[in-house]
Amino acid sequence: MGSPGAGKGTQAQLLQQDFDLPYFATGDILREEIKNETELGSKAKEYMDRGDLVSDELVIDMIRERLVVPESADGFILDGFPRTVVQAEALEELLIGIGRAVTAVVALEVDDEEAVSRLSGRRVCVKSGHTFHIEFDPPKHEGRCDLDDSRLIIRDDDQLGTVRKRLETYSKKTEPIFSFYEERGVLLRVDGSQQPDQVHAHIRALIATVRFEETV
Ligand code: AP5
Repeated sequence: MGSPGAGKGTQAQLLQQDFDLPYFATGDILREEIKNETELGSKAKEYMDRGDLVSDELVIDMIRERLVVPESADGFILDGFPRTVVQAEALEELLIGIGRAVTAVVALEVDDEEAVSRLSGRRVCVKSGHTFHIEFDPPKHEGRCDLDDSRLIIRDDDQLGTVRKRLETYSKKTEPIFSFYEERGVLLRVDGSQQPDQVHAHIRALIATVRFEETV
């Protein structure tokens, strides 16, 4: 968890390499649906473009179908879900139903100005979705992805006005989840304002203290 620009995608990709687990980022899945011009994509686009959340029902269904398959049997990494208390409750219920539980919730904390500066310089690979930053993590060749030389683009919702709205939505609708997970003793707060490798090291150190596979 973390505000827009907190570094969720950056850190989740590193953790995915560490643990080799399926990785589900609701924002990426929704953007893929928009790209493929699906019905779900057309419903989601309007909300995303104005910095609002897509309806709980849609994203809960989207996640449910990914967690109940055999590929997720050894665990998974979620990025950007849950984002409301309703989603957190639905996830809990879904996991109880399959004899699982949330092991760790990493909350990346950065202030709004840092988030705005990160998002205004973000560039995303049109093909792999890999993320760069023109100042903090520049690609080797301007406008091209280091991994596959595809074009780098600016996300539609990274316009300043939309970023401000996304930050507001986060503090209103997502921050209340912190206490939900605090009560369950799984919330790990991390200072997300350091360098990406330092943030990653901090997360790894905290995760090392967690008991894995809390099968209920
Ligand atoms: P989503 O795609 O999840 O966007 P977000 O939460 O706004 O987060 P971002 O992807 O913008 O930021 P990030 O934290 O991943 O940062 P990143 O690592 O890229 O969601 C988009 C939309 O989809 C939502 O607004 C909503 O409409 C909808 N949606 C998604 N999930 C939903 C749900 N569950 N329910 C309802 N609606 C949902 O890093 C940002 C930049 O900073 C990069 O350029 C990076 O290189 C740089 N950077 C990263 N870490 C550091 C660091 N430590 N120091 C310096 N720079 C850094």
